Amino acid sequence: MSSEQPDQASLISEDAVGAAGGGGAPESADFPVPAPLSSHGPARVIAMCNQKGGVGKTTTTINLGAALADYGRKVLLVDFDPQGAASAGLGVNAHELDRTIYNLLMEPKSDIRDIIMSTGIDGLDLAPANIDLSAAEVQLVSEVAREQALARVLRPILDDYDVVLIDCQPSLGLLTVNALTAAHGVIIPLEAEFFALRGVALLVESIERVQERINPRLRIDGILATMVDLRTLHSREVLDRIREAFGDTVFTTLISRTVKFPDASVATEPITSYAPNHPGAEAYRRLARELVARGDAA
Ligand SMILES: Nc1ncnc2c1ncn2[C@@H]1O[C@H](COP(=O)(O)OP(=O)(O)OP(=O)(O)O)[C@@H](O)[C@H]1O
Ligand SMILES: [Mg+2]
Repeated sequence: MSSEQPDQASLISEDAVGAAGGGGAPESADFPVPAPLSSHGPARVIAMCNQKGGVGKTTTTINLGAALADYGRKVLLVDFDPQGAASAGLGVNAHELDRTIYNLLMEPKSDIRDIIMSTGIDGLDLAPANIDLSAAEVQLVSEVAREQALARVLRPILDDYDVVLIDCQPSLGLLTVNALTAAHGVIIPLEAEFFALRGVALLVESIERVQERINPRLRIDGILATMVDLRTLHSREVLDRIREAFGDTVFTTLISRTVKFPDASVATEPITSYAPNHPGAEAYRRLARELVARGDAA
């Protein structure tokens, strides 16, 4: 276990530690509904990262984004996975699109506003991706400032949004390094399963490397336990291990395992609109409140 405990002290946002009151807010404590904003921007950019597949990155990007939009925030979701799952989950058939985030990365003079689409949710926009993006990983290697391509693409619209959420692919390759370079913060979803912490030390090392070499402002905003089933001893034990390893960086909000999430994806909607009264929808609204209360979003 100790070998899996990453040394992430320098990466943890002081706001996160401070807002949790040192001892961490109890799970039952709630966070205030965010105050309305009278103006928008500049955006805080948050990368949803874990090189492990299927841990809830895309589900969290879509549903946290929708919950923040419900609270009046202007949110841009950047689909940064060639699988295009965030686009598909919002009903966008990205495989039919000629221009996606891939073209923006490869064409320095292009404008991201040309590819941004509105979604069915007020305040929630999408920069779509499709399989074209898989070529960027190779093509960017020979570019100047190859790690900064996404940061450059996002710069012109930062003042238009309050939060930009980047849905990363399950890898630690150049695309993910681009997301970490463009970001202020990282949210790491961890599935509350036995191997949850395996690989996290490597992820934290990658984040540290980007922080040291390219992006000193980068912080881990929080670790999010997903697919939690508190009825099982196993899930509770894994949760304890995650808290042991990361302390107050772990969001007190837990995302339970429920079939409503895949159901909402099939319906191509966030759970917050598909089943607004479901506990899964309330969990992502609570995560949005917790993020704002920590000072990690406007
Ligand atoms: N809390 C949850 N309870 C039950 N199922 C969930 C939950 N969160 C996500 N899922 C389902 O688990 C699968 C993986 O989730 P998701 O696509 O969000 O993970 P991911 O980390 O983005 O995966 P990838 O690494 O492949 O991009 C999806 O079918 C999703 O609907
Ligand atoms: Mg995904």
